[in-house]
Amino acid sequence: MRTISEKQKSIIEFINVSEPALPRQNKEINQLEQLKEVCLDCSKCELRKGCSQVVFGDGSRTARLMMVGEGPGADEDKAGIPFVGRAGQLLDRILEAAEIDRKTIYITNIVKCRPPGNRLPLQLEVDSCLPYLKKQIELINPEVLVCLGGLATKTLIDKNAAITRTRGKWHEIDGRRVMATFHPAALLRDPSKKKDVWEDFKQIMKLYKE
Ligand code: URA
Repeated sequence: MRTISEKQKSIIEFINVSEPALPRQNKEINQLEQLKEVCLDCSKCELRKGCSQVVFGDGSRTARLMMVGEGPGADEDKAGIPFVGRAGQLLDRILEAAEIDRKTIYITNIVKCRPPGNRLPLQLEVDSCLPYLKKQIELINPEVLVCLGGLATKTLIDKNAAITRTRGKWHEIDGRRVMATFHPAALLRDPSKKKDVWEDFKQIMKLYKE
């Protein structure tokens, strides 16, 4: 990333010209950092009071593939990184089997603060947090979006969508390919869903490797 030294800044101010334009990708990365700062400072809803930190997102800022879960759990709240607890470890195993390097993708959640007792986020909380996710998507600009579980599916694909009927098919939203699949936590509760998730990941894998 191109940074400007204090001396360069004062020269720019002195000769009263605007700062040099950054190349496109650097500009988006800068804006993502700024968005993160704003988000870390957010108190738009009550969730921030009950969690220990905001979990913004993790991974490549130029990812072609972005995954969206529900909200941080206890482990994520402690670590400040999404999907590091039991569900996250299962997601890591799925990604490994699909030969998708976690470092090359971007992972985030619908809400960035842990709901108390891991309850489902309220609509008001989703609505407060959604502008951050929308901007993250715009700045990272992934070709492929994966909705992990019902909340991400309803929020990003269709508010009336049922995960069982929506998963496994490509949806086109704002020029991106969007796939819904079961949340890894659902697989921990019901391992029979693993077969379906693997079918979904085979399609994701194919597109990701194109
Ligand atoms: N479940 C989620 O939806 N997101 C996380 O980050 C962890 C568990």
